[in-house]
Amino acid sequence: MSGNKKVLILPGDGIGPEVCNEAKKVLNHVNLSHNLDISIVESEVGGVAFEKFGKPLPDETLNLAKEADAILLGAVGGPTWDNLDYDLRPERALLGLRSELDLFANLRPAILSKYLSDSSSLKAVKVQDLDLLIIRELTGGIYFGEPRGTSDNNNSAFNTMIYSKKEIERIGRVAFEAAQKRNKILCSVDKANVLEVSVLWREVISDISKDYPDVELSHMLVDNAAMQLVRDPKQFDVMVTGNLFGDILSDIAAMLTGSIGMLPSASLNSKNQGMYEPVHGSAPDITGKGLANPIAAILSVAMMLKYSFDDQDASLAIENSIQDVLSEGYRTHDLEGSEDKKLSTTEMGNKIIEKLN
Ligand code: IPM
Ligand code: MG
Repeated sequence: MSGNKKVLILPGDGIGPEVCNEAKKVLNHVNLSHNLDISIVESEVGGVAFEKFGKPLPDETLNLAKEADAILLGAVGGPTWDNLDYDLRPERALLGLRSELDLFANLRPAILSKYLSDSSSLKAVKVQDLDLLIIRELTGGIYFGEPRGTSDNNNSAFNTMIYSKKEIERIGRVAFEAAQKRNKILCSVDKANVLEVSVLWREVISDISKDYPDVELSHMLVDNAAMQLVRDPKQFDVMVTGNLFGDILSDIAAMLTGSIGMLPSASLNSKNQGMYEPVHGSAPDITGKGLANPIAAILSVAMMLKYSFDDQDASLAIENSIQDVLSEGYRTHDLEGSEDKKLSTTEMGNKIIEKLN
């Protein structure tokens, strides 16, 4: 297929290929129905790439990623590769793509479908209509800080949490702009009672807040934020935080929505080039059994259409067809529901396409 917009699909490991397959069917469908002019290429990443090329992020994959307007990634990792050296582990591919493409802004929505209130780990009244957006800085902080390593003959190890004003400012602006398009409240999360890097974070975020007078800004310490997320998640609308805290808080938020199998994410750079991935991992325990929920991957396609291709219509069409399927009681195996409406990965993909028609 030829098209002007290039999408690279990197299915990866575990359930990655299964969920990407369904997401690709949906993308192909809307590509035609909405005249999107998208062409799709596929390549290897993660453990499968290690098996074939001896590294998790082969040069060819990285080059294709740089040329693409958007990337859909399934999942990477699995027990087969757990004992590899740090630099060869499948997860390195993710971190490599994030930093090589400068995908500093990670958007992780946690939205609870009104049809799934009973799937949440919290009481329905606490989470009904939850619609939260966590914005995680993705290319800095302790994940990438130098120096790092081991010392004292491997008797100690260390990492460095470092943020420059510039890095804080650019993620801060993404968050304020997102808040302006939503309910105009933003909570910035840090650990300013202990860490200098968080004191700077707080200063910079407060400084730039002057450019967004319509947004109400608050600051919260990360331990309190973790507690508040499970106590009363609906007090939040947009949250912004650093790489490590965002990793943890977004997993907490994910579970509030019932299943991590429902949540997409977008990682964007300043040119709106983006990598889109389900928040869930490679789930080796259910791989190949048709049990995986493809909705997170399919919603990642919806995010791609919205953020990289600015096509709200096509994006909304996908979101709506997913809600239609859920409203009729159909569920994948990770979601509670009646046994006679349980669908396999492929059946769920097909149902969603049926609704798109
Ligand atoms: C995520 C994942 C990754 C991260 C891992 C796989 C490196 O947990 O995307 O949240 O910690 O960033
Ligand atoms: Mg994580």
